[in-house]
Amino acid sequence: DPDGAKRFTLTLQTGSTEFRPGTVTAGTWGVNGSYLGPAVRANRGDRVRMSVVNRLPEATTLHWHGMRLPAKMDGGPHQMIEPGTTWTPEWTVDQPAATSWFHPHPHGKTAMHVYRGLAGLFLIDDPDGPRLPSAYGVDDIPLIVQDKEIDSDGELETGGVDRGTFGLLGSTILINGTYDPVLPVSTSLVRFRLLNASNTRVYRIGFADGRRFDVIAGDAGLLDRPATVDRVKISPGERVEIVARFFPGETVVLDSRGEPRRTANDIEEDDFHLLEIVAAAQLTPSPAPPATLGGPGRATTPPGARVRRFSLSGSEINGRDMDMSRIDEVVPAGAVEIWEIDNTTYAHNFHIHEVSFRILDIDGSPPPPYQAGPKDTVFLPKNANARLLVHFGPHTDPLTPYMYHCHLLRHEDKGMMGQFVVV
Ligand code: C2O
Ligand code: CU
Ligand code: CU
Repeated sequence: DPDGAKRFTLTLQTGSTEFRPGTVTAGTWGVNGSYLGPAVRANRGDRVRMSVVNRLPEATTLHWHGMRLPAKMDGGPHQMIEPGTTWTPEWTVDQPAATSWFHPHPHGKTAMHVYRGLAGLFLIDDPDGPRLPSAYGVDDIPLIVQDKEIDSDGELETGGVDRGTFGLLGSTILINGTYDPVLPVSTSLVRFRLLNASNTRVYRIGFADGRRFDVIAGDAGLLDRPATVDRVKISPGERVEIVARFFPGETVVLDSRGEPRRTANDIEEDDFHLLEIVAAAQLTPSPAPPATLGGPGRATTPPGARVRRFSLSGSEINGRDMDMSRIDEVVPAGAVEIWEIDNTTYAHNFHIHEVSFRILDIDGSPPPPYQAGPKDTVFLPKNANARLLVHFGPHTDPLTPYMYHCHLLRHEDKGMMGQFVVV
């Protein structure tokens, strides 16, 4: 725009998609296409203006997951977009570099809308950040991980999405909307931005040969320093950025392996092949990754921080279902609070809109270093509890709430969600 703002048009539409070459799957939805959407990209400090055009047969919303913005721009269940209309939020990006994303959030229908394919990345760059692999599609590769069920007539199977305890757990894994992808790489270091955009599945992602890699960022931004691991666990809504090293001419498989000790009545963690990576015979040497990344150091609890408690049961938070007309929590702008999440049942996770938080502890122990940075979603295995140090933003609106909820979309739709306003 003439004033320097960045304008994006995102059109939500129906379609059919080739997840596998030559096989058309009907019944998918996408953003500016037939499945998933473009990666939106903006710098810290940019003014962004969105036009979200709804060409679907039903009303929906588009939520900017991970974005810090005024509540009216958030795209939660109160910002419905009727079919044939356009929603035009705008805001100034003011937060650290991160891999965020967008997806619909209509109350009671999020699972189906996301499952059909409405989602995309929103990459926030900070020109003052550390030097990391950042050539998009070359050594900076997004990997959107999703599970689907595709029926024998080539239709997207949607039957189980809004049923049962966990909804549908698909047996077909798609990466960026592609089945069984192969990625050629040409540099010795490659950064992968992992997004779990599945409805329910939890993955433990690593390389089949057990090689170690560096985690550099979580949901809401860079870590303090790289954390070396051989697997990362990622539940729906979470993002993890990793940097892996490759050697000339090798073929390497990225996969997901279930926890060695699986607990009954938890989400099934099956084993999946995700991606085959083929390194070129000659690799361009990458500069060594920095020893420190610029993310915040150890989280410390301010004395006297207000504590709020949230108990998760089968599909309720603090014994209540989501009520669009009830404000559950009122938080002062800029507050730093401790939110204690106590899961009394099977697996859930917990996402808070607009904020960034640090995990202080899970079941009384500090989180693994790769999960110790800024986040907006935390996984809570069966009967686990977590303490979060939550940083609220400056945007006040006493009338328009933000959401907190389980990001297993079947649970969110069943009402495992609450509302808070910032005043
Ligand atoms: Cu990713 Cu309230 O959502
Ligand atoms: Cu969100
Ligand atoms: Cu849940």
